[in-house]
Amino acid sequence: MSEKTILYHQEDGVATVTFNRPDKLNALNGQMKEELREIINKVAAAPDIRVLIFTGKGRAFMAGADVSMFLDLDPLSGKHLAQRAQELLARLESLEIPVIAAVNGLALGGGLELAMACDLIYASGEAKFGQPEINLGLLPFVGGTQRLTRLVGKVVAKELCFTGRMMDAQEAKTLGLVARVIPGDSLMAEVNKIAHILAQKPRVALRAIKQVIDRGFDLDLRNACALETDAVALCLSSPDAREGVSAFLEKRPPRFSRTFSAK
Ligand code: COA
Repeated sequence: MSEKTILYHQEDGVATVTFNRPDKLNALNGQMKEELREIINKVAAAPDIRVLIFTGKGRAFMAGADVSMFLDLDPLSGKHLAQRAQELLARLESLEIPVIAAVNGLALGGGLELAMACDLIYASGEAKFGQPEINLGLLPFVGGTQRLTRLVGKVVAKELCFTGRMMDAQEAKTLGLVARVIPGDSLMAEVNKIAHILAQKPRVALRAIKQVIDRGFDLDLRNACALETDAVALCLSSPDAREGVSAFLEKRPPRFSRTFSAK
């Protein structure tokens, strides 16, 4: 059995996944994809996991798909590979908990595509982002052309995908792709702190915020706002809303429920 290409750690409701092929800049090969699939399924089925973090070992977050796989692809097997990879990121994106990409270094191709399927990207000062597939005679095919366009707009997405150039963390922050740039030596400590704060938040409300923002983004304003009315009704049916409001009125910190059944 070869060494695990992904390390997994779980503590106090926060799961951390570390891509672990540092000598290949964490390029995503078949084994890594299978391990990632298993972890996403495990997280989806675990009601005690409240936040998920992705990061990479070494100087990369992930330098994209392992290019060595591409030579064997014909059009049909290539399409199948792209469909399977898109399904994996759709599954990741549909997790009901906050998912954070702590981008420690290079996030290229599939690495950027995976990060964009997360809810929040925090980047170290050393992080670099890009969609370099054009240089292989390809295009981003794991949602990159679409998620990038929705995040930064058509013109910037085209410029990045046409040129394949890398942008640094500060530019990515300016474009709204990155939530915050954090010095590399404190990236994981800071992201862990944020994750633990999120893990204490009322879970039904957190889930509702994620769903309404994600689903509402592709709707017109009227229909998107209608999602909020259903979501607030759902929150009001949870004990955490009663607790949150009561705690405020009683001038004490709220004690939100610690567990939530996903069933
Ligand atoms: N697939 C497979 N192997 C990769 C890889 C990828 N996407 N990205 C990097 N590697 C491997 C390199 O082949 C090299 O392996 P080796 O030491 O066995 O030769 C190792 O990782 C280190 O990469 P190297 O190219 O030597 O580092 P560098 O600092 O000179 O360049 C990059 C870094 C990211 C600019 C360069 O590796 C690169 O362009 N990678 C491909 C990125 C890409 O096109 N991703 C999208 C794929 S769809």
